Amino acid sequence: MSQRDVIIACDFSSIDTTLSFLDKFTDCKPFVKIGMELYYAAGPAIVWELKSRGHKVFLDLKLHDIPNTVKKAMKVLSALNVDMCNLHAAGTIEMMKAAVEGLTRPDGSRPVLLAVTQLTSTSEERMQRDLLINASINDTIVHYAKNAKEAGLDGVVCSPLEAGMVKEACGKEFVTVTPGVRFADGVVGDQVRVTTPARAREIGTDYIVVGRPITEADDPVAAYKRCVAEFVGE
Ligand code: C5P
Repeated sequence: MSQRDVIIACDFSSIDTTLSFLDKFTDCKPFVKIGMELYYAAGPAIVWELKSRGHKVFLDLKLHDIPNTVKKAMKVLSALNVDMCNLHAAGTIEMMKAAVEGLTRPDGSRPVLLAVTQLTSTSEERMQRDLLINASINDTIVHYAKNAKEAGLDGVVCSPLEAGMVKEACGKEFVTVTPGVRFADGVVGDQVRVTTPARAREIGTDYIVVGRPITEADDPVAAYKRCVAEFVGE
């Protein structure tokens, strides 16, 4: 399962902007992440288009609802032929098991399914005060990751700094996908806990999700290739 790769976060608001950005990549087909903004604006057509152009697609919709609803929604995403999708582990093990069921095709294949443990925007203080979770944020992350594994999921989305402890708790085959990546000489922006592609590789994460350091670069293709060189080592 584990295969290091760089996923470009295509945080654009329309199909046209996304496709003209990806048109710059003439000699490679990067793995791309589509988030809520683009998917809600463009609908399934954006997935069909990207798949027909040969891209792998991570559909980042973070589902969280009753098990039956999530199961049916996952069945739709599976038919779209996405390569990777996700949900909130807070929906419970029962919801995650239903998601796996919905996602699994008649031939037994299915997209990679990841759980979001705690969003990186949630601080320990807010988690304890707003959500009344009386534990440390790291214990919560590891507990949710173990729940995801028990439910049959493939891995979690987490900060690069959490990937080590998730691997330790769930095994090295349990996939970690980590945003919050910046070049050592780059702009950090609104991300707080960041690391470089090279450091993410040392930590042992499987995929890094990189948005603005690539999408806002003067030469996005060169920035993408630099990420691949530092993280994958090619
Ligand atoms: O531009 P940047 O590299 O910060 O983009 C990171 C991407 O990863 C964005 O699409 C963001 O929504 C997503 N993400 C994140 N932190 C999380 C989960 C997702 O930055 N905890």
